Parts: sequence; C-alpha cells; structure tokens
Amino acid sequence: MPNTETYNDHVVRLFLLAAAVWGVVGMSVGVYIAAELAWPGLNFDVPWLTFSRLRPDHTFGVIFAFGGSALMGSCYYIVQRTGHVRLAFPRLANFTFWGWQAVILMAMISMPLGITQSKEYAEPEWFVDILLAVVWVSFGVVFFATLARRRIRHIYVANWYFGAFIIAVGLLHIVNNLAIPVSLWKSYPIYSGSVDAMVQWWYGHNAVAFFLTAGFLGMMYYFVPRQAQQPLWSYRFSIVNFWALISIYMWAGSHHLMYTALPDWVQSVGMAFSLVLLMPSWGSAANGLLTFNGSWHKLKTDPAAKFMVLALVFYAASTLEGSMMAIKTVNSLTHYTDWTIAHVHAGSIGWVAMITIGSLYAMAPRALGRPAMHSTPAMELHFWMHTVGLLLYVIAMWSAGATEGLMWRATDAHGALKYPFIDSLNAIKPFYAVRWFGGVLVLGGMIVMAWNLWHTAADARAHLIKPIPVPIPEPFPIQVPAPLPAAP
Ligand code: HEM
Ligand code: HEM
Repeated sequence: MPNTETYNDHVVRLFLLAAAVWGVVGMSVGVYIAAELAWPGLNFDVPWLTFSRLRPDHTFGVIFAFGGSALMGSCYYIVQRTGHVRLAFPRLANFTFWGWQAVILMAMISMPLGITQSKEYAEPEWFVDILLAVVWVSFGVVFFATLARRRIRHIYVANWYFGAFIIAVGLLHIVNNLAIPVSLWKSYPIYSGSVDAMVQWWYGHNAVAFFLTAGFLGMMYYFVPRQAQQPLWSYRFSIVNFWALISIYMWAGSHHLMYTALPDWVQSVGMAFSLVLLMPSWGSAANGLLTFNGSWHKLKTDPAAKFMVLALVFYAASTLEGSMMAIKTVNSLTHYTDWTIAHVHAGSIGWVAMITIGSLYAMAPRALGRPAMHSTPAMELHFWMHTVGLLLYVIAMWSAGATEGLMWRATDAHGALKYPFIDSLNAIKPFYAVRWFGGVLVLGGMIVMAWNLWHTAADARAHLIKPIPVPIPEPFPIQVPAPLPAAP
C-alpha cells in the first residue's frame, strides 16, 4: 500500500511525547509548590521561586501543556481513524504542534517573571494570547477539514465532543482575553468590576467544561470501547448526554462567585444549572463503565483498562462533589478552603490524568507500530503509584478543607470567632505534608510512564526499517444506531 494511504501519525507521536514531558514538568512544579505550602522556607526568598509565581506554571503546565498536548494528539489520532481518512493540511498540523509548544514555553517563562494578566487559567499576557488564538484556529481548521473529507458518513460521537471542545475553547479564550496593551509586557482587560469577574468565571468554569471535560470525554468515547473490545453500551445515550452537557455547562459558571457582588439571581441560576449538570455527567460515566460489561476480566491483566475504569469512577465522584459544592449553603463551608483543591484534583489527577494515561498506553504502541508498550509491569507499577498518590492527595485535602471550614465558622458563647486564622494553618500542616507525599508518588508514576514510552519508541526504531503502513479501515467497534423505522 503506498504511503499516502496510511494515517499521519507523525504529529500524533510528537504530541504524545510532548504530553509525557510536560506531564513530568507540570507535576514537578505541583510537587514543589505543595512542598512550599508545607515548608514555606523553600522559596529561599527568590521572587520567581515563590508559591504565587510558580502556581500558574503548575496550572498552565498540567492543563494546557500536558492536557492540551494529549488532547490535540488524540484528536488527530481519532478523527483519522473514525473517518477512515488521512489528516488534512499536514503542514498546518505540524504548525499546530510547534506553535503550541512555543505558546507553552513563552507562557511558562514569562509568568514566573511576573508578566501576567492575573486572571486564573488565563495568566499569559496579550502577545502569548494572540499566538495561542492563531494556533487554536489552525487546529480547528485541520480537525474540521479532516472531518469534512471523511469517508464514513456517520460522525462518531468522539468527534462531536472534540468539535465542541475546539469551538468553545476558541470562543472562551478570545472573549476573556480582550484587552488593551499598554506596553509589550502589560495590558488591561476591557471589562471591569463584577462584569470582569463574571466573564473571567464564565471562562474559568467553561475551561473546566470544555477543556478538562468535553475533550477528555472525546478521548474516553473512543478508547474505552477499544480497550474493552466492546461496542459502546448505548450509542444513543452518548448523543443525548452530549447535547445535554454542552447546553447546560455554559450557564453554571457563576457557582464560582457565590456570596459576591454578583446579583443574587445570577448565583442561583449557576446553582440550579450545576445541579442539573450531574445528569449528563453521570450519564457519560455510566455509559463508559457499562461498556466494560463482559470485559471486566481485562482489569486483571490490562493496566490501561484499569486507568480508564478508575478515571470514570473519579469523573462520577468529582462531578457529584461539584454539584453538591454548588449548593449555596454547602459552598459557604467549602469556598476558600482546601476542599476546593480536593475537588479539583479528584477531577484532574483522577479523571483527566487517568483517562489520558490509559488512552496514551492504548494509543502509543499503535502510533509507533508496536504490538504493546515496552513494559507491562512498569504500567502496573504506574497504576498503583498513581492510585495511592491520588488517594493520599484527595483524602488529605478533604480533611484539611473540612478542618478549615469548621474552624473558620466556629464561635464561642459570646458569638466571637473561636480560632485565630493561624490556628487553622497549624492544624492543616500535617495534611499538607501528606498531600506533598501523594504528589511525589503521582510524579514518580509519570516518570515511569515517560521511561516506558521512551523505550517503546526505541523498540520501534530498532525493529523497523520504515514505518508499517496502517491499513484503512482499521477495525473499530463503532455501534452506529439502527435506522429509524419508516413513517407509516
Ligand atoms: C503531582 C501531582 C500534583 C500535585 C502535587 C499538585 C499540587 C497542586 C498544588 C499545591 C496546588 C495549589 C493549591 C492551592 O492553591 O492551595 C495545585 C493547584 C491546582 N492544580 Fe495541581 N497538582 C498535581 C497535579 C495536577 C494535575 C494533573 C492537574 C490537572 C490536569 C492539576 C490542576 C490544578 C489546578 C486546576 C489547580 C488550581 C486549583 C484552584 O485554584 O482551585 N494538578 N496543585
Ligand atoms: C457536574 C460537574 C461539576 C460541577 C457542578 C462543579 C462545581 C464546582 C464548584 C461549585 C466549585 C467551587 C467553586 C468555589 O467555591 O470557588 C468548583 C471548583 C473547581 N472545579 Fe468543579 N465541578 C464539576 C466538575 C469538575 C471537573 C470534572 C473538574 C476537573 C476536571 C473540575 C475542576 C474544577 C476546578 C479547577 C475548580 C477550581 C476553580 C478555581 O477556583 O480556581 N470540576 N467546581
């Protein structure tokens, strides 16, 4: 078969490598800032080493560098295979890789130097934002052009999620970053006051919705049936959940601004939509888990499947928790405490990282033309390091959050606050040390994964003189719904 008939996996391999590298970098920074919270002397009085300067490097590094590279790579991998077509505009696809890496480097170098918009998850200054927008639009062009050239009429559900992820993230990024530059390093947003806060949290919340959820659901809907070797439990249900999820998420952002200057009714709208959001969230989690029916035995031998199953369990758990935290009375206890940090990391180390790692273990050997990863015991070791680290992290932060919330609201017989703030900090210090240790385990697992990936690539180089062409179509258990009966 001529080479033109094979999928373009070159750019997929580059993105997978970048995801592994940025995963290690982003989580190393996470471990360092976790240590700084437990042992503050670790900032050594160096400005760019302080917690506040390094924290955005952690969030940008794990969300956009690690998560973004994994999402773009898997999106390119999946759209080709579900459309039985080669990637459109290969040069533009290569540009999206190098452009994305340039955005990451510019952001992660400028932020610790204090060049920042001070908007959470949108810290980089205007010159980085413009490049990011150009790369993102190019990514959309490659994806939608490939989809338009597909040889299969049906658009598989994973592509619906990727399409929504690309359109929504582009929209959010551009609207939230509208700003007037006053110098090369500084700009001011066009919004002010509570409008600025609302736009920022419309962005921040939907970054969770469309970057950390919709994109990774796209990954899940392709790789879970593949790894379980079963058709999706219910294809129709996946489409219902898609439309429900994308139409509800956009309205829930104000749950980040409870008890603020935002009008009360706007806060209540956010709370109501957050509660309804539980349905499509659990719908997708159930659909993924039930797809393993008949394949549960795979969990004994297949670490990639284990990562996927636990990812779905944590997706269900963190969305239940999120919906509960959006109830105003519950939020009055959890807001500003480490409970939010527990929720974030149940969602991100549990759901986002685990579905990424499971998918990467499924995708990398195929993209490298190898029958399997270099070492299955290393995958198994990674699974247990990640799981134990994750549990230590979230249990420590739940405990810290509950302790802080209860101490801050405790009053004595005269109605005065019972504890000075410093007491609550001293009380949670041991939990910070446990969280740090959990992070070390998660990071250790990522290093094991990077080692395994490197050796799988080395095996591929050693065994192949030229890449094995992947025949089109590749068998894939898509369950396309039966046509509806003709109208009488
Ligand atoms: C080795 C694993 C990790 C460690 C040790 C770690 C540690 C931390 C620490 C110490 C913070 C600051 C908490 C605070 O402000 O009090 C943080 C925040 C955050 N991390 Fe991680 N993290 C890890 C993995 C991840 C991953 C994989 C993701 C996403 C994919 C992630 C996403 C975030 C986000 C979004 C925040 C901001 C939370 C907020 O403001 O509420 N982290 N992390
Ligand atoms: C039904 C789904 C979800 C709902 C209703 C929800 C709700 C919430 C609520 C109420 C907060 C606390 C806001 C505050 O008090 O400041 C929060 C924070 C957060 N959630 Fe969720 N959540 C959901 C799913 C997820 C998932 C799956 C992830 C990650 C993958 C996630 C990531 C975050 C992050 C990063 C924050 C911290 C934002 C910040 O303050 O920096 N959420 N969420």
